[in-house]
Amino acid sequence: MNPMTQDELKALVGQAALAYVVPGSVVGVGTGSTVNCFIDALAGIKDRIAGAVSSSEKSSERLRAHGIAVLDSNTVPSIPVYIDGADEIDHHGNMIKGGGAALTREKIVADTAERFICIADESKLVQTLGNYPLPVEVIPMAAAQVARHLKALGGEAVLRAGVVTDNGCHILDVRGLSITDPAAMECQINQWPGVVTVGIFARNKASVCLLGTARGVKTLTF
Ligand code: 5RP
Repeated sequence: MNPMTQDELKALVGQAALAYVVPGSVVGVGTGSTVNCFIDALAGIKDRIAGAVSSSEKSSERLRAHGIAVLDSNTVPSIPVYIDGADEIDHHGNMIKGGGAALTREKIVADTAERFICIADESKLVQTLGNYPLPVEVIPMAAAQVARHLKALGGEAVLRAGVVTDNGCHILDVRGLSITDPAAMECQINQWPGVVTVGIFARNKASVCLLGTARGVKTLTF
């Protein structure tokens, strides 16, 4: 039998995440190609949920196309689960996110959730975060100054060309950081003026990771 492709692994974990959806509740929905698989699977049980809070315009569009109501996050004080992908996840549930430029809204929705269910194929599991370029969302006028701060930490920041986020901001992608203490680095970068959000999710780390592997879905709990 041929090994499963990355897309098949994404479909597998997207489907597996349905088991974590609490009937009758509002579901937090992330952004990205893995989450697209989850949204498509969610359509099959849409009559059993009270709607979704979404982390991006793209996901909202896909949810609505399936007839799933997208609610304003300001009207939903808490949700049982937030389901989203990751660019990297370590063995403690800390993640790098923001490859799809949706990190700020992702962190906002994750912050309202009791549990973060990460769905990812096994290529995303790492020992130490930082091989994937770390996204940092910045207010445009702060980009150069934030890049200088990042350089002092050993990181090389490049402005993501042609990208304006759903919040009207820019993304710096930072190479060369070894993120050995994700919580401390998240805190440090977040406090620089002009930083909207750093793509380290340590404070809002995963509670569970459904990892798509050649042997099926592996469940990691943190
Ligand atoms: C978007 C994200 C995504 O969750 C992350 O980029 C993973 O995407 P994919 O499922 O397409 O690999 O953080 O901002």
